[in-house]
Amino acid sequence: MNSAYLDDFLTFLRFPSVSTDPEQKHHVAACAEWVSAKLRHSGLQVEVHATGGHPIVVGRNEHRPGRRTVMIYGHYDVQPADPLELWEAPPFEPRVVNNIVFARGATDNKGQILAHILGIGETMREEGELPVNLIVLVEGEEEIGSEHLEQFLTTHREELRCDLIAVSDTGMVGQGHPTFTYGLRGIAALELKVTGAATDLHSGIYGGAVANPAMALARLLSCLHDSEGRIAVPGFYNGIPPLESWEREAWAKLPFGDEEILAVTGAPELFGEAGYTSLERTWARPTAEVNGIGGGFQGVGTKTVLPREAFAKLTFRLVPGQNPEVVMAKVRVHLLAHCPPGVKLEMTGGHAGEPYVTNPNSPDGVAAQRALKRAFPGKEVALIREGGSIPIVNTFKRILGVETLLLGLALPDCRAHAPNENFPLENFEAGIRLNRALLQELARLT
Ligand code: BES
Ligand code: ZN
Repeated sequence: MNSAYLDDFLTFLRFPSVSTDPEQKHHVAACAEWVSAKLRHSGLQVEVHATGGHPIVVGRNEHRPGRRTVMIYGHYDVQPADPLELWEAPPFEPRVVNNIVFARGATDNKGQILAHILGIGETMREEGELPVNLIVLVEGEEEIGSEHLEQFLTTHREELRCDLIAVSDTGMVGQGHPTFTYGLRGIAALELKVTGAATDLHSGIYGGAVANPAMALARLLSCLHDSEGRIAVPGFYNGIPPLESWEREAWAKLPFGDEEILAVTGAPELFGEAGYTSLERTWARPTAEVNGIGGGFQGVGTKTVLPREAFAKLTFRLVPGQNPEVVMAKVRVHLLAHCPPGVKLEMTGGHAGEPYVTNPNSPDGVAAQRALKRAFPGKEVALIREGGSIPIVNTFKRILGVETLLLGLALPDCRAHAPNENFPLENFEAGIRLNRALLQELARLT
């Protein structure tokens, strides 16, 4: 491993660029400045654009007529690191153990976007120029729904005009196994707040006469699914086309399935919607999840209290055929109809993004598959969909009118969003090779 590259990677990881945390705002901004310096060092012209939220960094080479224009997109923001006590070392003090880098953001997305930036620098140094017109866009709000990027795309539509977009922010089916992702789930967030009495109450004095918001919340959450693991909101599945048999067959042959999911997750057993395999459940079926829940006494021991409020943070993963607004309207109606008596339910919508699917065998898709094979020689490219969301990918299509190639480098046990997130240096190096091969392969389609 080139030690300057490793130094860059570790420096990048030391910024606690947690986009959701207002207290880290200056660290997020410093991280954007660092990315801009790296892009400049790779030979691009760079601007850092302030937004109502975190900055957007855009780099470009000199554009020439007759060449294809490629945009590479990534994000420098990361998810919060908590629970901190479950990390083996502090999340923003990266460590290399057995050639694997451990830190928040190592996989998602710092290692992957930095590999592109370094690949660009290598080509510029060795060849003097890139084979394509390039735009690199690195944002700081992906992990909170890319709130300000849509407006930015609209305002800067002309400068950002391109033929296609490439993103390395998805997974691989196994180490060394090149993987092309042609679909992502959409997402819609909803926060529930259930309130009861004006204040916390003694549960002996008032319990039985005043409704308990935590209990009401539990009942509300339990009405989201039936006992078969299907979502019980009327009309939730409307418009979703059945899975194609070629997809089911292809996914069943992948070297990643129930056994690996059990091993990676450590869950006692797998569970989900009846009639589907785990890959089908995560890649092609919608879900309703509780991401956080609270209310009442959380301390050690007991406290006989009737809490005045309880809350839950939900996200729904959506698949092609579903529209976030339409689905969420149905969810709200369902929850309101099931709200038990004696409490008040407030619902606040959060970020939302549409699902995405593209043709992996388009000319650009095939070129990208060739590049993946060059970066990870020896194996056929796996064509998959993924359960995660990158909401901006659909916005790219709507505003810029172009498709996105998803060429991810994350491994199943990368622990993205969880303690001990990690990224192998092998994948980091492969990412640099991938960038170089990709720009060459895409340029050949001129
Ligand atoms: N890199 C992920 C998306 C991803 C993860 C795609 C796994 C495919 C497989 C991205 O950074 C992410 O985490 N996105 C969020 C979006 C949300 C906060 C709007 C997600 O999926 O939860
Ligand atoms: Zn993420």
